[in-house]
Parts: sequence; C-alpha cells; structure tokens
Amino acid sequence: MTSSTQQIPSVEDVRAALKDVYDPEIKKPITDLGMVKDVVVGDDGVVTVAVYLTVAGCPLKETITRDTTKAVGKLDGVRDVRVELDVMSDEQRTELRKSLRGDAEEPVIPFAQPGSLTRVYAVASGKGGVGKSSVTVNLAVAMAERGLSVGVVDADIYGHSVPRMLGAREKPTKVEKMIMPPQAHGVKVISIGMFTPGNTPVVWRGPMLHRALQQFLADVFWGDLDILLLDLPPGTGDIAISVAQLIPNAEILVVTTPQQAAAEVAERAGAIAMQTRQRLAGVIENMSWLETPSGERMEIFGSGGGQTVADSLSKSTGATVSLLGQVPLDPRLREQGDAGTPIVLAEPTAPAAEVLKDVATKLSVRARGLAGMMLNVTPTRR
Ligand SMILES: Nc1ncnc2c1ncn2[C@@H]1O[C@H](COP(=O)(O)OP(=O)(O)OP(=O)(O)O)[C@@H](O)[C@H]1O
Ligand SMILES: [Mg+2]
Repeated sequence: MTSSTQQIPSVEDVRAALKDVYDPEIKKPITDLGMVKDVVVGDDGVVTVAVYLTVAGCPLKETITRDTTKAVGKLDGVRDVRVELDVMSDEQRTELRKSLRGDAEEPVIPFAQPGSLTRVYAVASGKGGVGKSSVTVNLAVAMAERGLSVGVVDADIYGHSVPRMLGAREKPTKVEKMIMPPQAHGVKVISIGMFTPGNTPVVWRGPMLHRALQQFLADVFWGDLDILLLDLPPGTGDIAISVAQLIPNAEILVVTTPQQAAAEVAERAGAIAMQTRQRLAGVIENMSWLETPSGERMEIFGSGGGQTVADSLSKSTGATVSLLGQVPLDPRLREQGDAGTPIVLAEPTAPAAEVLKDVATKLSVRARGLAGMMLNVTPTRR
C-alpha cells in the first residue's frame, strides 16, 4: 500500500487548475479574486480546496463547488476532491471591490470617464406608452446577438418593465458595495424594480432619483461594455437631466409614434439634448402601421411623425438627425415582450423584428470607437 510511487499533483498544479474555475457572477477566475483560501494535497491523492465565498449564503456556492471539483478532479493522481467553504471578511471584500473597480473614493461612473469605449444610448420619448421599453430590450438583445457586450439600465423608476420584457427573473446580488446584475439573453440588466419587494410603488423624487441612477451606474459591476442602453421615463423630467449630468457623453435616441401630436412632444424630449449638449443618435418611429393579411398597410396612428421629429431636430441642432427605422405594429411584439422573449429572438423574421435588428446594426457599428465622441467638458465650468 505504498503511495510513494504514485504521482500526486503539487499544490501549484492544483492552483493552476483552479484558474479554470470562474466566479459565476464576477466572471473572473477565483484565483484572481483572492477566493482560494487554502489547498492541501494529501499523500493519498485526496485534495482539499478551501474557497472563500464573497457573501454568506451565496446562491452560487453549488456551482463553485461543482466547478472546483471538476477542475481539480481532472488532474492526474487525484483520488478525491473536497471543497470547504468559508466566507470573506469585510476587509477581504473591500480588497476585492477595490481590485474590481480600482481604488476610488467617490462612486465613479466608468462610462463617463474620458476614453471610455462604451457607447451609451438613452432612450427617450415625450409621451408614455410609445414603446421605449420594447425598443430598448429589442435593441439590447439584437446587439448582444451580434456579439457585443450589452447592459441595460431601467431608469424608468416608476415604470420598470424592462426585466419582465427581458425575462430577467433573478435578483441582483451584492458583493460588498458592488451589485452584480442579472443577465438575460446575454444582456446585463438592472432595474429599480429589482430592489423593491413585490410591486411596491416607488415614490422617489429629485435627489433620490439622481442617487439611485448614480448607484446603478457606479456600483453595478458591468464589466467592459460595448453598449449601455438607458430606458428613460417619458417626458423631460429629472432623470433626463440626471443622465446628462452623470454621463454627458450619452446619446439620445428618441422614440415616437407617427402621430403628429406625439411628434411634437417627442421633439421637446429631443430638444433637451441641445440644452445639455448631448448628441442625438437618431429617431425611431414605432407603431408605424399595421400590415393586414392582404399586405395592406393600415396607418392606425397616422403617418410622418418620425420624419417630422428627425427633420425638426436636424434643423434645430444643425446636425443630421436621422430617422433610423419605422417599426410596424405587431401583436407578437407585445406578446413576446410579455413572455420575456423579445421579438428579435422569438420571431426574427417578423417585419418589426427586421427593422429593430437593422436599427441595432446601425447603432452597433459605431461601437467602441472614440470617433464622434463628445469631449468631456462641463458647460457650467466656464
Ligand atoms: N410595435 C408594436 N406593436 C405592438 N405592440 C407594441 C409595439 N410597441 C409597443 N407595443 C406595446 O405597447 C405597450 C407600450 O409599450 P412600452 O411599454 O414598450 O412603451 P413605453 O414607451 O416604454 O411605455 P412607458 O411610457 O409606460 O414606459 C406594450 O404593451 C407593448 O407591448
Ligand atoms: Mg417603459
């Protein structure tokens, strides 16, 4: 029964194997996150790995245990793997947060830093119910399908319908002060609705709203995003101003219906971009027409609204603001939104899905480039 002739792995071998074990939320190797507490290799080939969890009762401990067992079990000479779990101390969590986010004092919004390569689009409208949230989730999913790294902030603090439309049912988890966003269809998403129990209405105003948005942007661990989409509440309220202050380089995407009255209100929402010196990424007309089975287009909400908004914003800004697409009415768009599978995924060949994918393409090709980006100057400074 001499085990001396049998090859057992060294502690270094085991640590090297653990590089393949990723924290399921932070998506980095546990070896890089200071999560490996100890490794003991017994003469009998039994390896004991002690792993620090970031928080007690971490819902993902089964995944970590399983992945650790698998990664170490692959090594030659390993007879058994035992995983012992411990929980990080406050100091360790602080260290982890610093290493994830850099050692900053104030909440830093990565997207607002000069040189940030994340393209930020704030989806705005004058009126409610024109399809901002539907457009936002479909663009997000279509962009993720194109291989981009995409995040969505449901900044509609009163409405928050984005998680349902994306089918994101998980709650975010907290590691120290970092919030790990749930993912759905390859899109990271955060919403105020995730922090309120049940359907409790949120009645925050002004400064509280500003702080909530700042927190979403600074304390959520987004990783390197190509695109960040913000679903704004309708109108020209507090949140739009906060977005402009917190992320001056965010570009505004205006959603309107074809109706002329709606177009006028949408214009006002777009005009706010001039005051805040934000760029207008373009206009999307939604609910443009309904195609009958015979192929006829019924213009339920009239026509021309999208083009009117684009023309008038072009005129007032002196830059070309284009109508990026006209999305027809399609009951499947609503149904799939209710079901949590955006139409671009569920019915990719539906005309509405084709238009949304096309707009996503237009907005993605400019991703992660510095060209055309506004300089980070605050107009109030001088
Ligand atoms: N092109 C479309 N075809 C059919 N239904 C649509 C279309 N666009 C949006 N809808 C439906 O219209 C309703 C309103 O859309 P949505 O919630 O996206 O609008 P919103 O602008 O975000 O609204 P709010 O101002 O309340 O946040 C939803 O039920 C949605 O499914
Ligand atoms: Mg909405």
